[in-house]
Amino acid sequence: MISVKPTGEACGAFVTGLDLTKPLDAKTVADIRTAWLEHHVLAFPDQPMTDDDLERFTLYFGDFGHDPFFAPIDGRKNIAAIVRRADEKSPLFAEGWHTDWSFQEKPPIGTCLMGITIPPQGGDTFFANQHMAYDHLPADLRADVEGAIAIHSAETAYAPDGMYGQEKDAEQDRSMRIISSEEARLKHEHPLVRPHTETGRPALFSTFGYIQGFKGMDPDKSNDLLVRLYAHQTQDKFVYRHKWKPNMLVMWDNRCLLHRASGGYDGHDRLLHRTTISQRAA
Ligand code: SIN
Repeated sequence: MISVKPTGEACGAFVTGLDLTKPLDAKTVADIRTAWLEHHVLAFPDQPMTDDDLERFTLYFGDFGHDPFFAPIDGRKNIAAIVRRADEKSPLFAEGWHTDWSFQEKPPIGTCLMGITIPPQGGDTFFANQHMAYDHLPADLRADVEGAIAIHSAETAYAPDGMYGQEKDAEQDRSMRIISSEEARLKHEHPLVRPHTETGRPALFSTFGYIQGFKGMDPDKSNDLLVRLYAHQTQDKFVYRHKWKPNMLVMWDNRCLLHRASGGYDGHDRLLHRTTISQRAA
């Protein structure tokens, strides 16, 4: 029987009483899924998992997602390293609020991140609960977001001239295996307010950055809405700040969360292995 202890913050729970280095039975997987849908971020401490264990765990919850702009770690197709060397000077990866790959036609429903090398301080991951952000929309913002169709693109991040683009590689000395490409300029539309695909509960989906504007809205109005929305979505009252330990697995639900990385660990290495979970093909 697993134990699920909520963080007491806007989202998140710690799950113990199971061994993720071994296959799980169907009841345990169902219990994890129930906890995931309720708390949106689950942390599993003290799980010395291998890459095989991480892949097996991921596949309990869906198929592997497609990572268009990361090269995987050696010997694996579906695991990427979130890595930063102690002496690295490149801008921090994923420091802005985002929802993983929200620019895809079928964005991943979840992400798994396995803490391997964790610095003694800093490197926390922040999560913002977008069900709560939706529930607490002020009337003027609610009127603007209901029915809005957001235009998503990876352009500003992963196009060759984007933040992680190869045009910046020489100056950035980045250890992450990022592959920028023209494909990043593709656009996909998603409703800004989406019912969660399993619970039906509405949430705000993604934010400024991957969202470039809104369908049928002039650019000035789009930008104004994005700025007001971002300020609302990322308020402290919606946020859980997660502190890592080595051998800790975290899984989160991209359908109802924003997340971001943070620094504060210069002089220390940081390494985590990441998979994404896509909705299982019918
Ligand atoms: C990510 O956004 O995938 C990385 C989060 C982190 O490094 O804390």
